[in-house]
Amino acid sequence: MYLLLRKLLFALEAERAHRLTLALLEAGARFGVVRAPRRPPPLVTALAGLELPNPVGLAAGLDKDGRHIDALARLGFGFIEIGTTTPRAQAGNPRPRMFRLPEHSAIINRLGFNNAGVNALIANVERSRWRGVLGINIGKNRDTPNERAVQDYLYCLERVFPLASYITVNISSPNTQGLRDLQQESHLRRFIEILRERQEQLASQHRLTVPMLVKIAPDLDEGAMDGIAR
Ligand SMILES: Cc1cc2nc3c(=O)[nH]c(=O)nc-3n(C[C@H](O)[C@H](O)[C@H](O)COP(=O)(O)O)c2cc1C
Repeated sequence: MYLLLRKLLFALEAERAHRLTLALLEAGARFGVVRAPRRPPPLVTALAGLELPNPVGLAAGLDKDGRHIDALARLGFGFIEIGTTTPRAQAGNPRPRMFRLPEHSAIINRLGFNNAGVNALIANVERSRWRGVLGINIGKNRDTPNERAVQDYLYCLERVFPLASYITVNISSPNTQGLRDLQQESHLRRFIEILRERQEQLASQHRLTVPMLVKIAPDLDEGAMDGIAR
């Protein structure tokens, strides 16, 4: 089944295949034909004070605006992370911007945080009925300079806080110019301090504990990772 579907989907440009798959998933969920082949056995896992029913989650980027939460939840994920969302809607990089490398079972993604903006994401989350562990991944707009990046993250943090099980501060993407510079220890200390302070304020305001995670690039050397951890 998968090999057949894969042949069909690979005949389409990668982003069209992505959209079509999500549309089919949505339709399947609506008519009750999409569900996990077998309910995944529970494998309760603790993470950052949260209890996940199982440790297999959906990473950010597949459902950037949280349009398909209920349909994706039917597949049995232990948690779902939506986003990256930014304060304002933006188109992302010019196309083509997603490239398949079938011989490596891989894809190159240069989407560049295309998304409908944080308010659209919030409306979608409010419409969803799923009550599982929902991560919301936040970023900055492409045209916000790094000196003001923290304002974009604060804007998103404040808005998504009451709806998220956890929040991911995404500074990992190579597709927004300069974003990864936020990872430098000298910047990061103040940057995280500001977000942490607001997180504490929001926690007492909403009487909610919402853990905040920082998503970093996967290709840092040990020294850079030590700096970020410090
Ligand atoms: C097409 C595509 C879009 C992605 N978009 C985002 C994104 O918006 N935000 C983010 O934090 N990560 C994004 N990612 C990274 C994934 O969340 C994940 O960290 C990465 O794919 C590694 O996990 P994997 O090995 O399971 O693919 C994206 C990845 C892909 C392939």
